[in-house]
Amino acid sequence: MRVSVFSTKRYDRVHLEAANAAAGAGHELVFLEPHLGPDTVSLAAGSDAVCAFVNDVVDRPVLAALHALRVRGIVLRSAGYNNVDLVAAGELGMPVGRVPAYSPHAVAEHAAALILSLNRKIHRAYARVREGNFELDGLLGFDLHGRTAGIVGTGKIGLALARILAGFGCTILASDPFPSAELERIGGRYVPLADLLACADIVSLHCPLTPQTRHAIDAAAIATMKPGVMLINTSRGAVIDTAAVIDGLKCGRIGYLGLDVYEEEGDLFFEDLSGQVLQDDAFARLLTFPNVLITGHQAFFTEEALRAIAETTIANLNALEQGGIPLHPVRAEQALAPRPLSAGADR
Ligand code: NAI
Repeated sequence: MRVSVFSTKRYDRVHLEAANAAAGAGHELVFLEPHLGPDTVSLAAGSDAVCAFVNDVVDRPVLAALHALRVRGIVLRSAGYNNVDLVAAGELGMPVGRVPAYSPHAVAEHAAALILSLNRKIHRAYARVREGNFELDGLLGFDLHGRTAGIVGTGKIGLALARILAGFGCTILASDPFPSAELERIGGRYVPLADLLACADIVSLHCPLTPQTRHAIDAAAIATMKPGVMLINTSRGAVIDTAAVIDGLKCGRIGYLGLDVYEEEGDLFFEDLSGQVLQDDAFARLLTFPNVLITGHQAFFTEEALRAIAETTIANLNALEQGGIPLHPVRAEQALAPRPLSAGADR
């Protein structure tokens, strides 16, 4: 199949070409640097399928334009699919595939890195030592051992982080509408979200972005959290309300914030903007806090994960070509979370 691969970086190209060759698939991969969106959709002309990433816009108008170009399906190089209008895709008869699991360890380990770095202020210590400043004042951390970690969403990544934090001696609390027996084997315990937010020293978000989880961590939720809580988000930016989190940081309710994702990251992440004036005032404000550590959606970015993403993407394309449906399809029903993320409603 001829496939337009949007938002291509050098590393995508290297891994996709290798996976295409290793599988003997013979797809004609057309690598395009621009994001997919209304202004770029015409670049897909002549392609049978489109391969998209997290900040590509795959909404109804874009899908309709792709359909008019006779594109047969979409394969995502991501686990999350919040950027795709699955209802529209279904109505247009355009199957959507994703990479349901590539390396949950990559993301969980990155969340752990954010937790450790924020706690022990490694980002500040690094800068100080390079300046010849060996003062310890301001670098005080706490033992993770004996602290309570609250994991919201115990799918593949949440469980991987639960295992890591259990290894540090943390008490693990969790919230998920679909409890996993594995969490209890690790020694964790499901509690209502309200209890998790009230008791956890560290809250780490691992649920998908759905209409129900959008702004789940808002001002009301933050007000119920432990003073000085550490909040970690490696899921999707809009699970937290950025303005509310900034207020929470200003008043000290949030003691630490670690982000790998950001609500408006589409205009920022994955690009070198170091020579430009930052236009996003909320993001600029976040960067002023000493207790905020932000990475640019790199939690997935390990060798193992890139290889697995490429292999699954080629497998999705093979299945789309042969049977009309990607190997790992995602349908509209999956975008509708089973139950709302309301405090106390889930176990
Ligand atoms: P998964 O599908 O294995 O697990 C998601 C879990 O969230 C499921 O157990 C589900 O029941 C639960 N969930 C759904 N609604 C919930 C709610 N309202 N409250 C609490 N839990 C809820 O997904 P996986 O692989 O663990 O990934 C989780 C998320 O991490 C993805 O949806 C994606 O947005 C994000 N992600 C981020 C990456 C990064 O590089 N920063 C890379 C990969 C994924």
